[in-house]
Amino acid sequence: MEEKVELMQDSSTQNAAPLTTQTGPTPILVAETVCKFYPIRRSLLERLRRQPPRFVRAVDLTSLCLMPGEVVGLMGESGCGKTTLGKILCRLIPPTSGKIQLMGKDITSLRGEELRRLRPRFQMLFQNPYSTLNPKMNVHNTLLETLRVNLRLTPSDEEQRIQEVLAQVGLPHKRYSFPTEMSGGERRRVGLARLLLLRPSLIVADEPVAGLDASIKAKIVDLMMETRTPEVAYLFVSHDLHVIRYVADRVLVMFLGLIVEELPIATFEEELHHPYTSTLLHAARQVSLHNSSQSKVDFSDLPSHNEAVGAGCPYVHRCPWAGHEVPKIRCLEERPPLVPVAANHRIACHRFSPTPESL
Ligand SMILES: Nc1ncnc2c1ncn2[C@@H]1O[C@H](COP(=O)(O)OP(=O)(O)OP(=O)(O)O)[C@@H](O)[C@H]1O
Ligand code: SF4
Ligand SMILES: [Mg+2]
Repeated sequence: MEEKVELMQDSSTQNAAPLTTQTGPTPILVAETVCKFYPIRRSLLERLRRQPPRFVRAVDLTSLCLMPGEVVGLMGESGCGKTTLGKILCRLIPPTSGKIQLMGKDITSLRGEELRRLRPRFQMLFQNPYSTLNPKMNVHNTLLETLRVNLRLTPSDEEQRIQEVLAQVGLPHKRYSFPTEMSGGERRRVGLARLLLLRPSLIVADEPVAGLDASIKAKIVDLMMETRTPEVAYLFVSHDLHVIRYVADRVLVMFLGLIVEELPIATFEEELHHPYTSTLLHAARQVSLHNSSQSKVDFSDLPSHNEAVGAGCPYVHRCPWAGHEVPKIRCLEERPPLVPVAANHRIACHRFSPTPESL
């Protein structure tokens, strides 16, 4: 199986997206051509016939860079690999290949005590904090346990940090409450408190406001943005374009494991986009048009092609440009790299990348 994964990587490494390069301070996180392939379970018949294993390319040659103080939005439809990418960046799961650097240190293959010591520096806020809270532990004990597992502090420092974060998330009065005695919004605040307690440099927030009603959602988003500091980088995963627009400085658009567009939030309304981003924006405008009171634009129910992506562009089966603006054979056979189309704006589409003959 390992051998097969190796071969699949080799076939597409030439299409690796180049890394975001920025001058100035050291990036908080740099991921280079990161991949995560999951084997697809085979039926008994397939195994008896010795059919070769197939893989879901959950994250496929993704490169990104997060700078201190930056909030980067990550959007894309359900199943495109957002959570998997977040887990890889926080070293909760190992990548199949690629390299991850946290503040200049290669953490790709860290294990054991070394990884445990660095863990407080990169934290993930999960979609459903209820599943990560122990129903038998009150807020105080939950926070204390988080501190003791990750850091070695004196009892008075522990007490001070707990008081600080409870004040920060507006929950001092819930210090001795259990998860069942709190609302969904309050539980998310506990999740955030637990993470802030460790003073991380990188926060990956995976759909932190999904499923909340509009007013609670706004409060949690505001709270998260109040906790923003110049030293911390946020990767904010959301289906909700309005939330992304509100919080992010920069947006990454993902499709079937691949970043297909990277752009500053200020240029989001401009016309030049990857055809997939245009579809997302169109869907968002349709929602505003038909239901202006609805604050959420949800792409999760857009149809998804989950078939294995070959060497070409993952969007080829839906793309209106394939066969018109760009020869379809190129889209099918060649993976488009992320290329600059304007300042800090890159798109992975052959329409914008030169053909080998024209170079
Ligand atoms: N442990 C696993 N084993 C096998 N396949 C997995 C595993 N985890 C995720 N996948 C597959 O990887 C792909 C990406 O999943 P992921 O959860 O990262 O998507 P997502 O973009 O976060 O979706 P959503 O918006 O629904 O949360 C999916 O096709 C999923 O089925
Ligand atoms: S590379 Fe081809 S299939 Fe992919 S977005 Fe561009 S035109 Fe469409
Ligand atoms: Mg997810």
